[in-house]
Amino acid sequence: MKYEDADILAFISNKPKLTYAPEKDTGSNENAGPNESSGNKAKDLEKKNLEKDLLTEASGPDSLPAFEEFPVSSSEALKNTLPSEALTDAFSSEALMEDNSHNSLNIISNTVSQALSSISRVAPEPVSSFFPDSSSVSRISGEDELPFEAFDEYDIGASRVTPALDEAFGIVTTGIEPLEITHSGATITGYIASARRSEIRLGTYVVVPYEGGEKLFARVGKLQYRQEFAVDDATEIHSRRMLNARASPINEADYKFLACLDPLCILYRKKADSALTRRMADRIPRPNTPILPVTDRLEVQTGLNIPEEGVFLGHLSVGGELVKTHSEPETVAYYLRNDYSMGDPLIFRHMLICGSTGTGKTFLSKNILRQFMTESNRYRLRNSPDKARKNPCLVIMDPQDEYSQIFEDNETLTEEDKFRFESENVTYGRVQSTKAFVAKVEGQKYPGDKSRAEQIEFTIPFSLVKHNSWLISAAGMSELQYIGLEVLLGDFFKSSVPHTYLNFINHIENEGTRSYYVDSGKLHESSYDGIVRRVSSRFFPKVFDQDATPITEIVDKIFKPGQISVFPTEYISSPRIRDLIVLTIMSLIVDNKLNTTGIDAIKETPIILALDEAHRYLSSANGEHARLIISRFADAARQGRKEALGLFLITQDPQDIDDTVFKQVNTKLILNLNNDTAISSLKVPKEYERRIPYLKKGQMIIHSPDNSDIVEILGLSNCVVRHR
Ligand SMILES: Nc1ncnc2c1ncn2[C@@H]1O[C@H](COP(=O)(O)OP(=O)(O)O)[C@@H](O)[C@H]1O
Ligand SMILES: [Mg+2]
Repeated sequence: MKYEDADILAFISNKPKLTYAPEKDTGSNENAGPNESSGNKAKDLEKKNLEKDLLTEASGPDSLPAFEEFPVSSSEALKNTLPSEALTDAFSSEALMEDNSHNSLNIISNTVSQALSSISRVAPEPVSSFFPDSSSVSRISGEDELPFEAFDEYDIGASRVTPALDEAFGIVTTGIEPLEITHSGATITGYIASARRSEIRLGTYVVVPYEGGEKLFARVGKLQYRQEFAVDDATEIHSRRMLNARASPINEADYKFLACLDPLCILYRKKADSALTRRMADRIPRPNTPILPVTDRLEVQTGLNIPEEGVFLGHLSVGGELVKTHSEPETVAYYLRNDYSMGDPLIFRHMLICGSTGTGKTFLSKNILRQFMTESNRYRLRNSPDKARKNPCLVIMDPQDEYSQIFEDNETLTEEDKFRFESENVTYGRVQSTKAFVAKVEGQKYPGDKSRAEQIEFTIPFSLVKHNSWLISAAGMSELQYIGLEVLLGDFFKSSVPHTYLNFINHIENEGTRSYYVDSGKLHESSYDGIVRRVSSRFFPKVFDQDATPITEIVDKIFKPGQISVFPTEYISSPRIRDLIVLTIMSLIVDNKLNTTGIDAIKETPIILALDEAHRYLSSANGEHARLIISRFADAARQGRKEALGLFLITQDPQDIDDTVFKQVNTKLILNLNNDTAISSLKVPKEYERRIPYLKKGQMIIHSPDNSDIVEILGLSNCVVRHR
């Protein structure tokens, strides 16, 4: 016992009124356990001996004076508060709640905590059950000076629960509030032993065994300290003493540390050898049963409904700390279901990665996308004549020239890293089929120095605009103008001049053409001029119809099963040209996937389209043309499963993604975001929402209702391919 404690004790005990007054704190009053009467004389003798032991043990030489001053009150208090049963059962909270009207009891609580720890010293080996049979009890009690009583309440021979008692965080208690489970919720309060308090976080997963082998799987939903003994610690003098204390003045045993458990499910097996499954939490744990850490990986995975295999996304964590089990490896891998066992692979129901700039979106995306590029990862195609399964083609829109590096290994990976990856089915290493498709733009050069991946140059033929007029319509075009543009394009593509951008502009800027449309009343004068203004751009002549192979002629080089086709755009200075390139690829994919007569290379290849800066292309705030793109894109998303098209959207502004597309996204990976509008647009449960601004690099919330419960995971701390 520390000197400071004794000093405070002496101080407090000098105020007899406070010492014995009824509790001031009504909170602790209403929650006090049943008050054991002091008239339990039968045990007095036994107690006296015990008291002597306890007091000698509790008080070091430093503190002796304090006790000498107030021997009676301590002893009185002890008589009322510490029946010998309190020490008999290390997990009995009743003893700690019996009577909290005495101030001087921190000595005793010290003793209780020592008793608690001495119990784990006495019984270090695992006992076979939490519902002890008499042998385990007598073994403990026979060995120690502590007066254990045989514990004959539970008679459950069939329990298969075997973890060590000394692993328990604490026990389920009824002393604070009644234990309760209803259809709408539950109240399960746990008392956490002082030695384990630092391990408990909001969100920590625990199990509570039932008799019969079932377990409650729960999450800590609330933490609370309460005074163990009524002390008015909201006083000037107390605060000074505490602040002046040399070491930490807090004595854990002076407080109850309570953890409220939110039940998630019950883990059970139908028969001893059948698979572990989960069902709704429909049973109530018994009072005084231990609250245990989850030590078995399978229990966590089953409890949270996480698939045991699939695409690796990260490791389960709580508050940024990995959840560790006794399994090998001890971490709990989080996989996304990627097979046909329960419907379609989840990538075809689309993914969204969101996070502020610099939070690791690209790093994470590389790690995830790499997982799809294994030889064995194959998908069905609805119309494929031979029912063959094909590897996907990964098409990546790359605004910062980062993804062609998938062609290169991450040289900093150690043998240990690789061993770990292999043990958890994490695919790593370069993808040789990675190619960079580079749009030829006058006056701009792709440096191509990030990797050795092959570069293939292409140009966008203006003929593509025939069916995709929005490629050239700028933001802010009105519906009327848009219809007018369609008319102009329709007529132009019917004419016999070569269908180039320059010819089109020359054509519509011609006075004769203008009066043809305006005078005949086909188009209103102001509409006509508005259209001309909006589609003539000094940038477009630099990108349409350049001296390179038209993209329409290399479609089967781009959309090839098992290939990664990267479209870098960083080297292009004009955002309008960059957008044109991205929109061209998007419309190529969407049109051909949706069209019954689409190009085979697109229709017959599973495609994963990774769209960085997705909000730029999928925001309906961009006017009429954007709405058209978006509705096509949403259609394609809706048909994703049928057409084997998976969208992988990456953005720092999820709130800007149009709702029709957003609703199609089933899996959301949420990295740190600090914008409230962005956070609330994600519509995750409040308790997770609050954590988003605090997520550290690599830490994320994963909301994928068809895959698992919502959880927090930590992504890999290294990249499986090069990222620099
Ligand atoms: N999980 C992680 N562990 C360690 N470093 C990371 C992690 N995620 C990202 N980084 C590093 O943080 C930096 C920013 O990551 P990046 O993926 O480029 O961010 P974003 O794409 O969101 O702007 C990079 O230097 C990257 O290596
Ligand atoms: Mg990035």
